[in-house]
Order: sequence, then C-alpha cells, then structure tokens
Amino acid sequence: MIRPVIAGNWKMNKTVAEAVDFAVRLRTAYSTPPDREVIIAPPFTALQAVADTIRGSFILLAAQNLHEEEKGAYTGEISGKMLREAGCNCVIIGHSERRTLFTESDDRINRKLRAALTAGLRPIFCIGESLRQREEGETEAVIEHQLKEGLNNLTANDIESCVVAYEPVWAIGTGKTASPEQAEKVHRFIREWIVRRYGPKNGAELAILYGGSVTPKNIAELMAQPDINGALVGGASLDVDSFIQLVGC
Ligand code: 13P
Repeated sequence: MIRPVIAGNWKMNKTVAEAVDFAVRLRTAYSTPPDREVIIAPPFTALQAVADTIRGSFILLAAQNLHEEEKGAYTGEISGKMLREAGCNCVIIGHSERRTLFTESDDRINRKLRAALTAGLRPIFCIGESLRQREEGETEAVIEHQLKEGLNNLTANDIESCVVAYEPVWAIGTGKTASPEQAEKVHRFIREWIVRRYGPKNGAELAILYGGSVTPKNIAELMAQPDINGALVGGASLDVDSFIQLVGC
C-alpha cells in the first residue's frame, strides 16, 4: 500500500516570517500526525528557518531545485549537500518551470536526480506534456522520453527513493485540471513503464503524484483514482487553511 503524499510547492512565494508562520500553524493543527506524508517546499531563503520550526514533527521539507555538482565555482547555485545540511528531506527536480523558463534539459535533470540521491535527498521528479503535445497525440511519447532520459542510469534501488509527479504543463496555474480519467491514464502509463523497466515491486511501490490546479475541491476525485497517490500543489498550497484541507482530503 503506497502512503499518500501531499506536497506544497510554494515556488517564489513567502518571506521567511510568512513561511515560519505557515509551518507553525500547520504543525500545531494536528494533535496526531495525519495518515499521509506532508511535504512543504519553501524558497531557499526560508529552508533553514522552516527546518528549525518543523523539527521532530510529521512535516517533511523539500527544496525546489538543486545544482548537480557538490561544490565549486557555480555562482548563485546550491548543492544537495547544502540542502541536506539546511534540513531538507526532499527536492523537486524537473519542474516544467525549470525546464521551460530555465532551459533545463533531460540530461541535466538526470544529473540533478543522481546528485540528489547521492546527497541523501528524495527526488520529486516532475514530468508532463504541453498543450500542443497533448493536442497532437504525443502525451505518452513525451512522458516516456522524459522518464527514459531523466531516469537514465538509475537503479531499482534508486527508484525506491524517488517520487514521480505528473504535471501536465497546460494544467499548471491555469485553473484547468486534468480530469481524473485523463490523469489516471497517464499515471497508469507511468507505472507500467516503471514495471517494464524496473520490475513489479518498484512499479507497485512508486508514489505518483498529480499536479496542476489541484484545489481542496477537486483533490478527492483525483486521489480516488487507483494510480494517483497524492498531489503536488502550487497555488492552493500557499494558504495554510487550504493546505490543511488538502492534507485532510
Ligand atoms: P498549481 O497548483 O498552481 O497549478 O501549480 C502546480 C505546480 O506547478 C506544482 O508544482
């Protein structure tokens, strides 16, 4: 049985004070931990303060990006080792905003995945097709390509530490959610690909999250699908009451 995962990707939002306030309110909202994994991904500047706030609680901390090298002359970049030191458990890799706005290639994403695993961080590996690709019937080919290139050289052991997030680009921040059936079809395709490549155990145990305009209103019907194991939420994760509703879905 896969433990459901609810992850909030705050993107470039929240000051340190706002992030800590959110974390305090989230932590104190539960007298017993929820029956799912709860992950928040603040911007880099708030990671350490949030880590201090959630220490010893059920909340896990993710960064939104990392650099693939451990250290060196990479002005403005942050390594997996630094993220671990700041208290991160996970890191989002391959988000469509990184792929498009920051021109991250599949090869680069692969190197980042390997760097995250080496640093002891759990990657949340994002994949998804654009509207044009969907309309031209290329969804499965795009997903397969992103899986094949992104997971290149990763072993079954590595995959055990990974979470995959399917985020159709046309559904991100647009208010247009994939229907539960549309999302399930792609999730099933991803799981079957993992089974073919890594075997039934990896396939059965992989948490595959859906992302793209998830809200407290639509999360339950998405999560009711057999291959949807959780959600990676942007906009609706920024308000703590909304996020608590998502966790409680
Ligand atoms: P929205 O929930 O705002 O559509 O963002 C989804 C996302 O990109 C999460 O990583």
